[in-house]
Amino acid sequence: MTISRGSTEGTGLWQSDVDLRRLCSFATAARARFFVALEQEDELPATLDEANDKDLPVLIMGGGSNMLLTENYPGLVVKIDLKGISVRADSSSADHVLLNAAAGENWHALVEYCLDNSFYGIENLALIPGSVGAAPVQNIGAYGVELSDVLVSVRYFDLRFQQVVQLSAQECQLAYRDSIFKQALKGSAVILSVCLRLAKKPDLKIAYPALQQALHDISDPSARDVFNAVCAVRRSKLPDPAVLGNAGSFFRNPVVSRTLYQTLLQQWPELPSYATDNPEKVKLPAAWLIERAGWKGKRHGDAGVHEQQALVLVNYGQATGLQILQLAKAVARSVQQQFNISLEPEVNVLPASAWQSV
Ligand code: EPU
Repeated sequence: MTISRGSTEGTGLWQSDVDLRRLCSFATAARARFFVALEQEDELPATLDEANDKDLPVLIMGGGSNMLLTENYPGLVVKIDLKGISVRADSSSADHVLLNAAAGENWHALVEYCLDNSFYGIENLALIPGSVGAAPVQNIGAYGVELSDVLVSVRYFDLRFQQVVQLSAQECQLAYRDSIFKQALKGSAVILSVCLRLAKKPDLKIAYPALQQALHDISDPSARDVFNAVCAVRRSKLPDPAVLGNAGSFFRNPVVSRTLYQTLLQQWPELPSYATDNPEKVKLPAAWLIERAGWKGKRHGDAGVHEQQALVLVNYGQATGLQILQLAKAVARSVQQQFNISLEPEVNVLPASAWQSV
């Protein structure tokens, strides 16, 4: 690995031929031709200019917990290492605070910070791997809470217009595992920071079945009890990426027509479902479909379907990104054949064309 300072003044250290395995939670072997860790917002324009001068494509990387690299990256990987959490001085109200958090902060550390400071609203989102900047991209959600419940705004650097832009939560178009950053702004926004509105008094969301069960013995749970219960449920079902490579749910839960759902119910009366905003559409748990298609705990070499959660694909050690992708495709084909439902990755598969071509 060679290290040299970027030739443009004000850019960070450029490293070449960098192993990305430790930086991506799937822990598949992949290398970046060039790599920069970005610690200062104002270094971004010069870094991007330099990549442009060298004709290099740029990949922006957060915590690396929601991506599957299927080949080496031929350009510059910019890891967002921007840090800082602050309460907005103008935000005091009896009930709420506004909190700014930089994109490179660890999401779970932010959840802990909030709990320690008695700022409530994201305790259900404990232990979600990844960085703060990645949270709005897929509108992270778990156990009955989504980022959209607390998001006020997002600041990002627009790669097309070379300027910092702020979007309100509404402008971010947050939906189930979706946002403007996955749609119209895909590939053209580098998220710099988010602003969250958090409550000074807890308003606990404990209706999610697994959570209710975990809190069964506690008569009047506190926010910390909810946090602890979420951590316990996640630890019991979801593999720790530090131990077993994975990127959380590999697929989105599919949204299907009520007609298809009714047809499926005739054969599988126990098929769970969730309501959506559209009364004609129903969301189904992909994990359930994958398990019924016989994939839970299956292993192809070092690529596997997790034994406790069929929606999570895992790397038992030496699986390549391509092998994980081939397994994912095989799973999706089975579900298509058995249920006539098309599964789409929730994980960011790179390059994007790989999902279509395997
Ligand atoms: N199920 C199975 N087999 C399994 C696992 C689950 O049949 O192996 C069934 C369960 O019995 C339940 C249903 O599937 O009826 C839903 O399971 P679970 O509560 O575990 O949630 P999920 O729909 O599989 C979603 C999110 C998770 C989030 C949990 C809890 C998506 C794509 N995934 O999973 O998010 O933690 O709900 O809210 O929406 C992630 O995005 O990476 C992630 C882990």
